Amino acid sequence: MIGIDFGTSNTAVATASGEVLRIDHGDALFRTVLFYPEDSPETLAGSEAIERYQDDNAGRFIQSMKTWLPSQSFTRTQLRERTLSLEELIAVFLRKVGEAVKQQGHTTEAVVLGRPARFSTDPKVDAFAEARLLKAAQLAGFGAVRFLIEPIAAALAYEASLKRDEVVLVADFGAGTSDLTVMRLGPRHRAQPDRSGDVIASGGVYVGGDRFDAAIMKQKLFPHFGAGSTYLPALGAKRMTMPTYVSSRLLSWNEMSLIREKKTRELIDLMLRSSDRKPAIEALHDLVMYNLGFRLYRAIEAAKVRLSTSTKTTLDFEEERISIHETITRAEFETASAHLIDELEACTDEVLSRVPAGLRVDSVFLTGGSSHVPAVRRLFARKFGEERLRTADAFTSVVEGLGRAAPMNFAAS
Ligand SMILES: Nc1ncnc2c1ncn2[C@@H]1O[C@H](COP(=O)(O)OP(=O)(O)OP(=O)(O)O)[C@@H](O)[C@H]1O
Ligand SMILES: [Mg+2]
Repeated sequence: MIGIDFGTSNTAVATASGEVLRIDHGDALFRTVLFYPEDSPETLAGSEAIERYQDDNAGRFIQSMKTWLPSQSFTRTQLRERTLSLEELIAVFLRKVGEAVKQQGHTTEAVVLGRPARFSTDPKVDAFAEARLLKAAQLAGFGAVRFLIEPIAAALAYEASLKRDEVVLVADFGAGTSDLTVMRLGPRHRAQPDRSGDVIASGGVYVGGDRFDAAIMKQKLFPHFGAGSTYLPALGAKRMTMPTYVSSRLLSWNEMSLIREKKTRELIDLMLRSSDRKPAIEALHDLVMYNLGFRLYRAIEAAKVRLSTSTKTTLDFEEERISIHETITRAEFETASAHLIDELEACTDEVLSRVPAGLRVDSVFLTGGSSHVPAVRRLFARKFGEERLRTADAFTSVVEGLGRAAPMNFAAS
């Protein structure tokens, strides 16, 4: 029996005792990415995919697969000569995870698989997304599969440390989503096989690390790629400002490749000839045509991570005709991402409004990679007081809880 946390950016595996396996060359976090090199038949996953893709830009690099689960529009993608459904694509990834699990002497016969509290607010879409994930797990050759929502899993990991019963707000801030759950935890509740009765309220919002990265892109890097520049649409015509939809596509790594479509390509050619800020358009051209978006986002993410401990950092990126040396202060980052903190606060208030009056939240357990963002922590310190905040390893509490939940889940059936 094992637990698997299939995350938007990181996947992890733990045993029933809560031990986290080192499934990626000694590392506990297996990056949720695939790479199909152009000139070889193999498929790479995790750190191997990242390393190879960084040496060799040719080929297809696939990330954030999880975010497509609720999307009805993503059905198939062309990879080499094959057309793969999303389920098949995720199965390719999960099979790689399964192979790593077997190498550690465990099996995928009985798996508790995490899922967000909400794939969608529409119950039909939510069920559709979960069914797709189940299909992927089956295609990957997993045996029995049970689902557990990620914040409950994180709660179970935290519960293992509790000496007395508490009402806890568990908040998991990942790469794609933030999930919140208010739950009764503690020694008296621990042994129950079904914990759904202990959940007092829960909710989620699409605020996560990916959007914090996009905020840096928009605030600090847009001008490097021609936002606000002007060009001549035709000889003798009036100058026009670069359409905002072009830079909007830079906000999501997945959409950046759409700029390579014919229509925008022609626009870029036009701007290359007549822009008032030619170097910026050249940078935009190279970013999308040479497929440098992933590397740029890695640099942005690294700068964001540094800003969690420093109040100022420099983002350096030199590739082709792109030359960025941008100082970013934490204050600037916080201004750029203030709307995300507002969204988190609104979601938190909404969840708390469903907690019966008179019930006090004893503690707040913050987890997930984005819980390191200082403004996220500050939001909860302001609402609950620093003394009520608790933390553990932000990257492994969900998977630890999934593992710990396995014996109860499989005994109950
Ligand atoms: N020190 C840090 N400061 C700020 N953000 C961080 C830090 N470390 C990691 N992150 C961010 O945390 C995110 C990854 O966290 P995590 O592994 O919890 O997400 P996930 O489980 O893959 O996603 P999800 O739960 O949404 O499916 C990334 O967006 C990453 O940039
Ligand atoms: Mg997660």
